[in-house]
Amino acid sequence: MNTTLTFHNHKPETLSLQEAVVTGLSKAKKAIAPKFFYDQRGSELFDQICNQPEYYPPTIEQSILSSNADEIANLAGEGRVLVEPGAGSAAKVRLLLNNLQPSAYVPMDISFDHLKSAATDLSNDYPWLPVHATCVDFTHSLPIPDVVPNGPRMLFFPGSSIGNFERKEANEFLSMIHDAIGKNGMLLIGVDTKKNEDILNAAYNDEAGVTAEFNMNLLLRIKKELGIDFSLDNFKHNAYYNSDAGRIEMHLVSTRKQTLNINGHTIILDKDESVHTENSYKYSPDEFITLAENNNFEPVKFWTDTDNLFAVYLMKIH
Ligand SMILES: C[S@@+](CC[C@H](N)C(=O)[O-])C[C@H]1O[C@@H](n2cnc3c(N)ncnc32)[C@H](O)[C@@H]1O
Repeated sequence: MNTTLTFHNHKPETLSLQEAVVTGLSKAKKAIAPKFFYDQRGSELFDQICNQPEYYPPTIEQSILSSNADEIANLAGEGRVLVEPGAGSAAKVRLLLNNLQPSAYVPMDISFDHLKSAATDLSNDYPWLPVHATCVDFTHSLPIPDVVPNGPRMLFFPGSSIGNFERKEANEFLSMIHDAIGKNGMLLIGVDTKKNEDILNAAYNDEAGVTAEFNMNLLLRIKKELGIDFSLDNFKHNAYYNSDAGRIEMHLVSTRKQTLNINGHTIILDKDESVHTENSYKYSPDEFITLAENNNFEPVKFWTDTDNLFAVYLMKIH
């Protein structure tokens, strides 16, 4: 049993689903931020997406991490505090722990119950590792709990979650990481690359329909948590690569004209009107390195698979 496992709740009180839904659906271009996907069911569905054959990023990223764990540890050095925002099931970090030998691991996530169970499992499997699981909204802050030891830090941000941000938000997030890791800090980040559109479109439209269920789960969450009565059949999943913007877009499309009454707020959706639920920007290595350099990171090394489908970058602070 690991004796050092602590839980910290820094979830901001501003994180109201009702507010996000009413504000987002009152806009001319309706949208709800992707962080609202992740209730317990959303976290489970994301794990299932990672097992779909069409969704190539996790397998390739894991293979890059495990093949290069030794070199990553040599370049970064042992004994860092390892911080992982959006850790989810904390699966990928397991590929690095034995090599990196961090002094502590700080998994962070918005989905607290899921995070607690992932952190408990990890802590049992790595009894030598102090684990300080922290519930946060990483778009607001990256608070490192006081119990975390001093020493150089490494922030691990796999899964191409950086792609969910608009360019301005990506700059803000990288600058927040810069502050959170501080002097001698390093960043290990997985980023999906630009590629053949068929591969991208298939990845977000898996045949088993799991990504569609993940997207539709947002509606189920709205129905359950806000107590609103509407049929899920009135919406359908739509995901496609927008080549001009260099991003996958995910939408929930209204299949008919409908009115939603959200606790006193009336929202009208036209037939075929869409609610934009996620972007996933793709970056060529040059584009990503420029983005990172603009935020005072310096590339140390990056690794890709032979088909250049995914890239993992190790960066240090200027
Ligand atoms: C796409 S999944 C990636 C999970 C994991 N990092 C991986 O690479 O497999 C995104 C994760 O980030 C979490 N997440 C999404 N938005 C968040 C936010 N604003 N603050 C904290 N966690 C968030 C989700 O709950 C989920 O676990």
